[in-house]
Amino acid sequence: MPDFKNGKIIVFSGAGISAESGIATFRDSDGLWAKHDPNTICNYRNWESNYELVHSFYNKRRKELESKLPNPAHKLIKRLEDEFGIINITQNIDNLFEKAGCKNVVHLHGELTSLRCIRCECIIEIGYKAYDFSPCPKCGAERLKPNVVFFYENAPKYAELYTIFNNICDDDIVLVIGTSGEVVNICYLLNKGYKILNNLEKCPSIDENIFDSVYYRNASVALPLIYEEIKRLKG
Ligand code: APR
Repeated sequence: MPDFKNGKIIVFSGAGISAESGIATFRDSDGLWAKHDPNTICNYRNWESNYELVHSFYNKRRKELESKLPNPAHKLIKRLEDEFGIINITQNIDNLFEKAGCKNVVHLHGELTSLRCIRCECIIEIGYKAYDFSPCPKCGAERLKPNVVFFYENAPKYAELYTIFNNICDDDIVLVIGTSGEVVNICYLLNKGYKILNNLEKCPSIDENIFDSVYYRNASVALPLIYEEIKRLKG
């Protein structure tokens, strides 16, 4: 019989947890990739040939982020962090977990509020401002990149993801929220632990049968129920 009381809580999230805060997802019918071509604005192989367009796209999303607020789902994840401690891994580049007070969030795909120098790799915090095409303050390189992992780009944080998931044991609880599984094949990484899924609807790349508990509803409605379920498991 697993000892959830002494196990870890691992939270893995995607764009769906921020949808109710007014941040578009990617693959829903009204998602970002329905309106913008990811091969033009999120493709490491050609982004420099679309340099101004790429920065215009991320400048706009950065500006929009300033007024976005965490929703009840983010706040309940913060509550789980306060009460039990969590490992919080997100694919999201927004800072809504941080705005909710979460610490040590692992951003697998980078963060919208910073830039990265493609020569010296230094990270430059930019907050919600538009990049003004100034050179790298450290090495003087002319071009900086949004600190967001593009398609075909190396994603160093995945090593941390695999380590975390390789160390999941039967006493742990894994909460997967708001992801289609189209980029991180989360079901492939999941084998041990008590698994909880929250999405808006069934997704082809997420096998609901591997989960112990499934909630197909808005994250802000599901999380209060999931919080109570985790409290029961934790005794
Ligand atoms: N509450 C809960 N889940 C929701 C909600 C909501 N209000 N709205 C949407 N969802 C779910 C959808 O059911 C879907 O499964 O969120 C998921 C969104 O899927 P995607 O748009 O594919 O987002 P995500 O899985 O985070 O994408 C992964 O793809 O393009 C890359 O780098 C990008 O990090 C992103 C990655």
